[in-house]
Amino acid sequence: MATPSLRLGWIGLGSMGNAMAKNIHTYLQSRRGTSLCFYNRTPSRGDALEALGGERCASVPELAARSDVIFISASDDAAVQSIVEQIISCGSELATKIIVDTTTIHPNTTRQITESLAAQGAQFAATPVFGATPVAEQGRLLVAFAGPESVYQTIAPFLKGVIAREVLQVGKEPEKATLLKTTGNFMMAGLMEIIAEAHVFAEKTGLGADVLERLLELNFGTVAHSDSVRMTTGVYMPGKGEAPWSDLNLALKDVGHGVDSAKQVGVSLKVGNTVLEHLKRAKAYSDENGQRPLDSSSLYGVVRQDSGLDFRTEYVKKRDQ
Ligand SMILES: NC(=O)c1ccc[n+]([C@@H]2O[C@H](COP(=O)([O-])OP(=O)(O)OC[C@H]3O[C@@H](n4cnc5c(N)ncnc54)[C@H](OP(=O)(O)O)[C@@H]3O)[C@@H](O)[C@H]2O)c1
Repeated sequence: MATPSLRLGWIGLGSMGNAMAKNIHTYLQSRRGTSLCFYNRTPSRGDALEALGGERCASVPELAARSDVIFISASDDAAVQSIVEQIISCGSELATKIIVDTTTIHPNTTRQITESLAAQGAQFAATPVFGATPVAEQGRLLVAFAGPESVYQTIAPFLKGVIAREVLQVGKEPEKATLLKTTGNFMMAGLMEIIAEAHVFAEKTGLGADVLERLLELNFGTVAHSDSVRMTTGVYMPGKGEAPWSDLNLALKDVGHGVDSAKQVGVSLKVGNTVLEHLKRAKAYSDENGQRPLDSSSLYGVVRQDSGLDFRTEYVKKRDQ
């Protein structure tokens, strides 16, 4: 049961932040008749939440002053560091506040943020999330929690059943949660690579994409099947005006964190390195094509090229005509 007087704030309304913030706001309204405070750097991204009754704050310091629990969902390490610096510099009573970061960042950055906030007396937890935007919209994410037990007790009512289907408790040190997320991203990216290679193999042997996709559905589970669908329905290379399911730039960051974290302990992630190289080449393809937004599954285009196929499938060519 949530503490009735607890004031909640949300910073960062990108595709994931917007979905999670809406679900928490809806929960607050239905259970307590209160609203979620929010702030986003680009104000227009808060219009939908404001229309639902969310309370707009004009700045990070304003949000920090008005919130007991401050959730963050930003793009990368630099963004979270900048937001945390603004929270610290605002001089609000940080010793009474809890900061919760849902962003996927490097475990080293999580450790630095934990230390900076601890020096101010604030409590901090890392809660990176597993699942793409449609899953976030359904409130069905998997949340990895690491931080003090008291923080878990305070924020648990807003996790399972609100933004998450399940919460995986990782430990007391926040960086353990981002380390788990990094490990998960490495496995997801490796699976994507294998499915991309399997599709190219099936195309060149004449086996065909349909039967391969059916096999993935029947025998390899929903994640593998969903990766396949991203390739066969052209999601890997979104049509003009369409947004990626998950942005290529975020995948570059995520796989880069995994490869770097492993390197620090003397582990060479060979599959991770291959994926990273393919993602970098997909990024170069995007740059050569007017910064066309690509999905994290766009490594498929590079795997196609390496086997003498066009980056674009016939499906994509027809759709873009
Ligand atoms: N998308 C997915 O499928 C997925 C799945 C799991 C985890 N994640 C992780 O979740 C996080 C958010 O992903 P997303 O897809 O929601 O990203 P996104 O749509 O690109 O949103 C990024 C958010 O960060 C804000 N931001 C960026 N730089 C900032 C700065 N310097 N100061 C303040 N705000 C800043 C953006 O504000 P503006 O609106 O002003 O640009 C926006 O609100 C990422 O770490 C990602 O790796 C994503």
